Amino acid sequence: MDVRLTSRSTRHRPRWCEWRTAEGGCLIDLQAVYEARLAQQGAFAETDPDLTRAAARFSPRRFRSAARVRDSLVTNLVDLIEAGIDTCPHGAPLWIDLSSRKGRADWLPDEFFCRPVFGSDGMAWTSATLRAIDAVDVRGTIVADIGAGTGILGFHALARGATHVHAVDSDPLARAVAGMNARLLGESERFTVHAAVGDVARSTGCAFVHLWGVWDLPPVLPAVADRLPTGARLILAPLEGTGELAQIEGTCRDLGLAPTRASECEGWYALEVRIAAAGRPLTPISPREGR
Ligand SMILES: C[S@@+](CC[C@H](N)C(=O)[O-])C[C@H]1O[C@@H](n2cnc3c(N)ncnc32)[C@H](O)[C@@H]1O
Repeated sequence: MDVRLTSRSTRHRPRWCEWRTAEGGCLIDLQAVYEARLAQQGAFAETDPDLTRAAARFSPRRFRSAARVRDSLVTNLVDLIEAGIDTCPHGAPLWIDLSSRKGRADWLPDEFFCRPVFGSDGMAWTSATLRAIDAVDVRGTIVADIGAGTGILGFHALARGATHVHAVDSDPLARAVAGMNARLLGESERFTVHAAVGDVARSTGCAFVHLWGVWDLPPVLPAVADRLPTGARLILAPLEGTGELAQIEGTCRDLGLAPTRASECEGWYALEVRIAAAGRPLTPISPREGR
């Protein structure tokens, strides 16, 4: 693509914003994202009034608050990530990843980063869920990874013999990053990204539900369990301490799901449950009822 730059100088001037996550997050170069978006649209902003207007809405000069930065960035980053663009036209990277490499599993390649989303094996809550997956036989199984973040749990299942992963995340940026990681890992054929549990086919043989916290689990449990056959395994996380573990065990029994095993890492738990043959009909319950 022939792209002329709008800046008077051809020297790139980074304009950093820090995007924090538990894993460290990343530094995003707003100027690089802005220039990459212009280049992606294949036009010279100064001579195209429509593009100039569109670009002005995303000019770093307009960012006054973190919320505005986030809202603008999400839309633009998603488009760039999905197009496989990770540098500006000067060759500067869109971001510098700050996520820890501590604990990186040897099946994860060097290219695997968290970027602005969550999910690395350097974190105890994710490690507890990875241990829970190790305890389940996923060979030959279609798996649902709900709250996929980077997609780490689904990729772990593929490495352990699962045939396909349906990754679900409500965050568009997480969906873009999970898809990007699938491309980096050469797993795009076996890794499908969805926005909602309802988009996942009912032929799933096993599911992991790893959301923000214990309070997020009850509202999604009925829809997830509904996609699993009798006897299938469901792994629920993150659970901080034995109190939250006991709380979700009670919720599961009320829903006709049989708790079978808990995996732990540094005080964080992931609960494995089995879809019981004859449970109570599953009806959605509110987060308040689930507490
Ligand atoms: C802590 S991260 C988990 C990432 C990864 N699965 C792991 O094990 O580390 C939680 C993810 O759940 C997603 N999420 C939260 N609530 C959700 C919901 N109701 N449906 C789908 N995704 C949800 C968030 O966007 C976020 O990416």
